[in-house]
Amino acid sequence: MRPTRFLTGITTSGTPHLGNYVGSIRPAVRESQAQGVESFYFLADYHALIKIDDPARIQRSTLEIAASWLTAGLDPERVTFYRQSDIPEIPELTWLLTCVTGKGLLNRAHAYKASVDKNAAAGLDPDSDVTAGLFMYPVLMGADILMFNAHRVPVGRDQIQHIEMARDMANSFNHRYGEHFVAPQAQIEETVATLPGLDGRKMSKSYDNTIPLFASSEQLRKLIAGVKTDSRQPGEPKETEGSALFQIYQAFASPSETQAMQEAYAQGISWGDAKHLLFERIDREVAPMRATYQALMDDPARIEAALRKGADKARAIATPFMARLRHAVGLRNLTSGSADTLSEPRKGATASFKQYREKDGKFYFKLVEPHGDVLLQSLAFDSPRVAGQAISTLQSQGADALADLSLVLQAIPPERLASVHRALNALAQAPA
Ligand code: TRP
Repeated sequence: MRPTRFLTGITTSGTPHLGNYVGSIRPAVRESQAQGVESFYFLADYHALIKIDDPARIQRSTLEIAASWLTAGLDPERVTFYRQSDIPEIPELTWLLTCVTGKGLLNRAHAYKASVDKNAAAGLDPDSDVTAGLFMYPVLMGADILMFNAHRVPVGRDQIQHIEMARDMANSFNHRYGEHFVAPQAQIEETVATLPGLDGRKMSKSYDNTIPLFASSEQLRKLIAGVKTDSRQPGEPKETEGSALFQIYQAFASPSETQAMQEAYAQGISWGDAKHLLFERIDREVAPMRATYQALMDDPARIEAALRKGADKARAIATPFMARLRHAVGLRNLTSGSADTLSEPRKGATASFKQYREKDGKFYFKLVEPHGDVLLQSLAFDSPRVAGQAISTLQSQGADALADLSLVLQAIPPERLASVHRALNALAQAPA
């Protein structure tokens, strides 16, 4: 009933490069245009603090990454595009999850273990230079995902463990406090290329072998001239296997262009000519986007406004959900009864829709609380199908849908508004 929710975060710690474009930005933008999915993309700036203590760099990277996504065609009207640090519910949820996560689980996280192993090898204290932020990284990431009950998280292989940990956190929380969270699944893009960098290793900031996505044409040409090749002379046949230049070409080219390049390799194209073809192919894809990117970079207020709007959209989900979670764990208004339906995790204890036909021959629906109180009452529909559609919209979008449906609903008395919002949002958040 609920559309599949995709969610992914991008750490704001650097300048987007061709590897990010091919491996993450381009496929994600395509996916976000598909029907029947709901996608969430966010700038993981709290995560950036784990690695970077240069404030100007974090700000710059946030701007560059946001501008790159928007330039590549991410439509903020269609998806929810926001900045992690605009959602205070995320660090709040991080604490609730911290309290249901085993320390031993976090001891086994790859990023933390790698630091500990490195220290051990150097004969240092195991935790030397390891911040608690690095240690807690998987919990913050779990909160990112569980806050929006995402079903699928498209990530690289290096992140699978983190998604598994988020599943563990969802299960431990649900076990203690009732069904609140969807257990997310990693979605590994098998078809998406990992792009080699200038030196032939995976293109990555940490190897300093990247080509910035929005380098100028001149810079791009120069950087491509530096892609590692072998010593084969013009006229000598060349291997496509293991050729970084060929792999980068393939990530941008159509199948027929790739085949033509394969033939050129076999016929002994010079490395200089091959680099020229590679430059032209990438430039053809990137050049039309450069002006858009520059215009966005020159107008940070536009991006800031887009992110604020995205934050409003995200918080329309996060705020009521967090209220429900606080209540579930016992962080409650002291005047509320301990058996309040909001906290009741058992299935069937939430409000539900009833659809029915009246003597007038028309179709109606209402939203009824478990003990029978009517929260919401529809006006008359001529067709049961249209009534059903309104119900599904409310079920999938929660209270957000109320404004759009106001013409088919009876006015909600102000004193009932909060309960209606809560009940609808609980339904919309319930695992489908
Ligand atoms: N840790 C991820 C990375 O470095 C970024 C990230 C943060 C993320 N939160 C997330 C990815 C939630 C997916 C879902 O690539």
